[in-house]
Formats: sequence, C-alpha cells, structure tokens
Amino acid sequence: MTPPTELILHVNGGEHRVAVDPETPLLTVLRQDLGLTGPKYGCGSEQCGACKVLVDGVAVPSCQLPVGQVGGLPVVTVEGLGTADAMHPLQEAFAEEQAIQCGYCAAGMIIAAQGLLNRVRYPTDDQIREALADNLCRCGIYDRVRRAIKLRVGRPEPARLTVRHPAPVGPPSEAALPPALLATPELDRWLRVDEADTVTAFSGKVELGQGLRTALAQIVAEELDLALERVRVVMADTALTPDEGNTVSSMSLETSGAALRWAAAEARRRLLAIAYEELEAPPERLVVDDGVIRDPVSGRETTYWAVAGGRPLGGEVTGVARPKAPAAHRLVGTSAPRLDLPAKVTGAPAFIQDLTLPGMAHARVVRPPHPGARLAAVDAAAVERLPGVLAVVRDGSFLAVVAEREEQAARAAEALRERAAWEGAFSLADEDSVYAKLFDGPAESNLVVDGATVDGPIPPWAPPAATVRTRSASYHRPYQMHGALGPATAVAHLEDGRLTLWVQTQGVFPQREAIAAALGLPAAAIRVIQRDGPGVYGHSGADDAALDVALVARNLPGRPIRLAWTRADEHRWEPYAPAMRIDLAAALDAAGNVLAWSHDVWSLPHFGRARGGPESTLIAAGHLATPLPQPPARAPRGPHSAGYRNADPLYAFPARRIVHHHLPESPLRTSSLRGLGAFANVFAIESFMDELADAAGADPLAFRLRHLADERARAVLLAAAERAGWQPGGQQPGPGRGRGLALARYKNRQAYAAVVVDLAVAPGDRRIRLERAVIAADAGQIVSPDGLANQLEGGFVQAASQALFERVTWDAGGLTSVDWDSYPILRFPDAPVVEVVLLNRPDAPTVGAGEAATGPTPAAIANAVFATTGRRLRAVPFMDERTSTPNHPTT
Ligand code: FES
Repeated sequence: MTPPTELILHVNGGEHRVAVDPETPLLTVLRQDLGLTGPKYGCGSEQCGACKVLVDGVAVPSCQLPVGQVGGLPVVTVEGLGTADAMHPLQEAFAEEQAIQCGYCAAGMIIAAQGLLNRVRYPTDDQIREALADNLCRCGIYDRVRRAIKLRVGRPEPARLTVRHPAPVGPPSEAALPPALLATPELDRWLRVDEADTVTAFSGKVELGQGLRTALAQIVAEELDLALERVRVVMADTALTPDEGNTVSSMSLETSGAALRWAAAEARRRLLAIAYEELEAPPERLVVDDGVIRDPVSGRETTYWAVAGGRPLGGEVTGVARPKAPAAHRLVGTSAPRLDLPAKVTGAPAFIQDLTLPGMAHARVVRPPHPGARLAAVDAAAVERLPGVLAVVRDGSFLAVVAEREEQAARAAEALRERAAWEGAFSLADEDSVYAKLFDGPAESNLVVDGATVDGPIPPWAPPAATVRTRSASYHRPYQMHGALGPATAVAHLEDGRLTLWVQTQGVFPQREAIAAALGLPAAAIRVIQRDGPGVYGHSGADDAALDVALVARNLPGRPIRLAWTRADEHRWEPYAPAMRIDLAAALDAAGNVLAWSHDVWSLPHFGRARGGPESTLIAAGHLATPLPQPPARAPRGPHSAGYRNADPLYAFPARRIVHHHLPESPLRTSSLRGLGAFANVFAIESFMDELADAAGADPLAFRLRHLADERARAVLLAAAERAGWQPGGQQPGPGRGRGLALARYKNRQAYAAVVVDLAVAPGDRRIRLERAVIAADAGQIVSPDGLANQLEGGFVQAASQALFERVTWDAGGLTSVDWDSYPILRFPDAPVVEVVLLNRPDAPTVGAGEAATGPTPAAIANAVFATTGRRLRAVPFMDERTSTPNHPTT
C-alpha cells in the first residue's frame, strides 16, 4: 500500500485535488471523495460496465483503474453530461424510450453509448451491440437502450408497442374495497394534502424498478384530478406507511394501487364536502382541475390546499366514495414518464448504494468459505492495526470489519479473510449426483386440484380407454440465481437504543420483525426504511445485508454504518431459485386431441424469507454464537403456490392429474425468484404442447386453440401470432431459422401472456441467436402501457437469460459461480428486438405483469429451436455444454 499522495483530477470540467493512495480505484475516489454517485460498483472486476466513465472520451470501467494512472486526462461521469433539470440529449433519449427499469445499469450504459458516439456518428445496430457487449443489465432493457441510441442520433425507430381495445368478454368486474384498506381503513394513513401544491400518497409496497411509484401516482392524480407532478409517493417505511407485507407476486397494483384508488376517491369526496361550506355550492356541482375547486355557476373557487393543506382529513375509507369509471380516465391508461427516471439517468443519488450520512463508516462482512463452515480462530488484532480500521466485529462465526473509508474496509476484509481459520469441509457431491439424489429422494406429495394442494391418495397416471397413443417427457431446471447487478447494501444507525435501517427489502414490516428477533430487540425500537436499489426479482441478498449491518452497528452505537457486499458475496450467498423437475404424460385420441394429462412436479422450497420468531433464515442469524435455528421448510398449501404455481394447464382437457412433490431438504439455500414454479412448469407444459402437436401432426397454434376455451387466452395467443406473422403449418421464417410460441396466464388468475420467438441456430452449433420476440398480454385495465410493456420485455429477457445461459455450479472446493464470467447471463449482443401488443380491458381489474412472460419464454425458445433443428430441449440452460436433453420413450 502506497501512502496518500495529492493528485489533481480533471472531472466533469472541474479540477479536484484529492489525497489518496494512487492505487485506489478511480471509482472509489469518484464516489467517496468527489461525491459522484453516477458510476456504480457492480462487480469490481470490469465484468459488468456499471462503473464506466469517459477517460479522454473513451468509455472505460473505473472499478479497477488506479486513480494514479488517470493523470491529467479528462474524466467525465454521467453527471458531467447533464442534470435532471438540463439533461444531455442522450439522457433525454434514455428517458423518452424509458430505457430503464431499476436504473442501476443506466449510468454505465449512457457512458458506454456516449463513448461509442464519440467514435461513430451513426452507429449500426451491430456496432451498438458490440460497443455495449460488456454492459450488463439484469432487468433486460437492452433493446430499449438500442432504440434510445438510435433516437439520440436522429434515426428513431417506429413504435414497437401496440395497444388494442378488444370487446369485453364478460360483465365488468365488481369493484370492492381491497383487503389492504380493510386492514388499514384510516384515510390519513394513505393520503395527505400537503401544506401547499402537492399531495402525498403512502404505500407499504416498494419500488423495485417496476415503475410502481409512477403508476401509484397516476392512480392518485387521476382520482383527485391533479397533475401527475403534484403527487409525491412515500413507499415502505415502518414509521410512515401502512403495513402491506411484502412486494411480491406481481400484486402491487392489484393491492396497493386499488387501495390508493379508493382512498383518493374518498379524499376527493371529503375535500369537496369541505369546499361546499366555503363556496356555498353542493359538492356534485363542483369541478376540480389540478387541485383547484370551482363552482361553475358562481365562478367562485378555492383549492385542496386552501381547504385542507397540512391538516388531517380524518375518517375512514368505507367505499361510500366510488372511484371514477374507466371511461372518465385521462391519466390512467397513458404512458406517463417515470417520476424516478430523471435522477437515475443523470446519476443523482437514487439508490441505497448512494446513501451517505454524516460521519458514516464503511463495513464489509467476511463470510465462511462455504455454507456449513465455522470460524475456528481469527487474528483480529493484526487487522485492527490496519489504516482506518475502527473495529473487527465477531459473534460466533459472524465476522465483519469497519473502517473510516470504503477501500480501507475492503482491504481490511481481505486481510481478515487471510487471518481467519475455518473448520468444516464442503461436502456437496458433483452436480449430477446431487440432482439425482434430490429428485429421487423422499418427498411430501400432494394432489393439486384447481391450483391448490389437497390431502388424500394420489391416483397413478392411467390413460383412458379411448387412448390411441401416449407421450411422456421430463423437463429440468437447475439452481439459478437472481444476480442483482449491484451487490446488496444496507445502512444502519443505532442511537439511544433505537436502530434505524435503510434497506432494499421487499417488505419493511416483515424485515423489522426478523431483525428484531435476531438482535433480541423489540420491533418498536427499529425503524426500517426502504430505498431503491438494483432490481431484485424475488428474494435476493438484501435482507441478509440488513442483518449484517445491524450486527455491526450494534458494536458502534452512534455511528452510521454502511455495509456493502462484494460481487462474490452476492453470487455465493444470495438464496437461489430452487431446482425443479417436471414429468409430463398425455393420452391422445384418434383425432390427436388430448384426452388426459398428467403433471408431476418435484421442487425444492421457494419460500425462504425471514420473519419474526425464534427461527430465522437470515444468514448471519445462523452464524451467531447463539444461533437462531433454521425453520423447517413446510410444504406450501396456498393456491398456485411455490413449486406448483402454474402447474395446472389453462387448456380444457377432459381429465387431468397434477401432483406436487415437495422436497424440503436443499443442500443450497433457496427462496423465491421471479415467477417461482411458473418458470419451470410453463416451460414444461408449453414445450409438451408442442410435442403433442407434433405427435398429432398439427400446427402448434391450431393445436393450442382447439384445446383452449378461455376467450382472453385465445385473444392473447392470436394477437401474438398475428403480430409475429405466424405461418399455419409450421412454415419457418427462413433457412436456419425457427419460430416458436407459448402461452400462460400467471397463477391462472393474473396477466395473460403469449410469446413468439424467432431465432437462428447455425448448423452444427449449439449457439442460439434470438432475433425477434413478440409478446402479447392482457393485464386487465392498463395503468401505463409503456410501463406494462417494459415489465413484459424485462421478464422476457431475464427468462431468456435463464433459459439459455444460467446454472449455479460448484466443485469439491465449493461454489464456483462467483462472478459474471463463471455465471454467464444474457448480454447486449444476445438480446433480440422486442415487440409488444397489449390488450386493454378496462372492464377487468388491473393485475401485475412482471412475471407474466417468465413461463412462456423458455418454452417459446425451446419450441423455436425444435422448429429450426428438430432437436427438443428439455433442460435449461439450453446453451450449456453439460446440459443433457433427455429423450424419454413414447408409448
Ligand atoms: Fe439495467 Fe436494472 S435497468 S440492471
């Protein structure tokens, strides 16, 4: 380590003097010394592009670049391009194309794009894909970035989003007060008329990059007749917002959105009632325009803020005031610009990773080399003498270090790792043996009827008497990971016995209970505040990082502590998506119609979130000197839950037998990942439908339609096929190219999605090149068409990545998926052009769609590969050399 040296940096047009070790990464100096939060830590090994900056006009990663090597060269970060009030044209293009979901990758993408534009004035699509090939996006916005760059150079592409308005297929659904309002009926818990000019909405749900904050603001602005800009949304804070549990299962618009809709309608009623006294006009005569209440007869007017600004509205939301009819909507149904987007494209501090508090210290956790290892001894004294180190924290096998600066904490953590001795060997067998043992091992089995498990005997699969032929096949999914682009980070401050936690959890109230139990504190002594972070798509490592930082803060009361995981921490310790196996069988009659269907799904647990109580699934809770035991993994029982989510086909088969085999013991920690069991179940069902169509000599689209009675499902399927140019009889888009389709309705009760994929496979090559994807969806009444499309596109890209590339690996020494090289995901050059068709149904409730494309995507790809090559892929990932393609016999 070199002593601090004074360096002169030229950043964003200004000159900056810093005294640091010249070996310190440029990223650390930009963020910590210059306060520039645009460049992000993603991997620390130049694999993801989140930290890119322009050095002398060239886009380079800054996470390993020693600051001493930058010399007098000009450095430009995304903040140097423009600000939220005066954006650079490239940032404006990103905003206009909404080339963002969580936004964690945005600054790196924009800088990489600017680096390209510095070299090439009018880049081609291939030049864009190549230039941004090492910029990863886990949310799947690659195609939007490509479009944004084209827009920036004045060559915009035609719209790829179509909204259709089909005729209703049934009576309008009856609107009713949502459960969240029944639990928290007090109006003031949901809405506040601020002292002047704005209204604040409170939601217990969290923004995960799905655009929820903006969609909720649209709903409130709609009911209150306000401009969107006047609505503030406070989300997920145990001190401020209602308890709405976890933000999961694409339910937030359905629950929190509905609650705010009714609450805003009630608020409007009350505000007009108060205005009645001032204006001396009956409420039904009053009109509202952007918060100005006017009596058209007398011409007198007042405002929301004049009649109630800063004062409680009082009362409860009872349903007396009904929300507007869809036909009266002017904001709901439009693609409103995302409220969080200006900050995220200009590098303003928008993420938990960017939070800085006065006097904040930095911490790193030092985990065991593998699950099951225990700390035998550590030479903490040597580490405590390192520059800047404030403390080494040890409690049982929980080990962490705190320092004044982040790079000091990082170096001290490495030193601590070298001085720690662990006991206990890694005992996982090779992958094939582990999977064989899992799926052939003991299971708790239940029949699934109408989407829910029931007790009782399980009948064997028995084809009916009229059966002419049967087919069977087996499908596999390995352990896979979320791989959030930014490693988990949390901030804690223990002061006067009260702990404040800033986290990226999916549920602040469940998180508070879990932390309280692990620390032995009353929940009332803890405040948990949600902050935006890199996209999470289920249960990531964020909750574990929250307990890590709380344990450190307990040892340094009065000092705010920021604890950040490394890339390897995230890859090794996040809870993985459970491995699954699905065995399908079907009986066909002489006409090739399905007479009976059998579905056996084996799945590891999908629920691993921590809650309050004497047991905990949080990593550190199990490492303490007095550890909290792990709760047993109970078999799920709810409708379309966990491993049997979407195991029940949408099709009208005369007979069906669906069995869930719960495997409680996983050698690797598992929990929820986007879609839960729907990914593998729909992959299997929709692949097998193609196999049956092939056996029946039928076109895959026609085969599905003749088994499909659900009108909304049929409409979605036909819309996708029509937009894609589906050729009856299986005609393919060209030599070496194939087209496949698949369909599902998420949980059989939420959004419908049909996916058509065009792809190419070079002869004799395993490489699959996705060229075009068409997604058609019906998510009921649309709040924001572009927001909905963005969710569907992201769901497609992430599921395609899982289908093509992703598999957690290990060897005798431990887990080997530790970064983006050892756990490859879909990159820019692999991303297809995506087109979306939305069917708007104002007569049906709004449902979330973040997981709607997750299941159909792997099946559409597998079906397209079969159409191209005749090779049937039944195990993901498809492009993995060791993936077998079981060829199960037919009878
Ligand atoms: Fe790219 Fe989330 S938008 S990682």
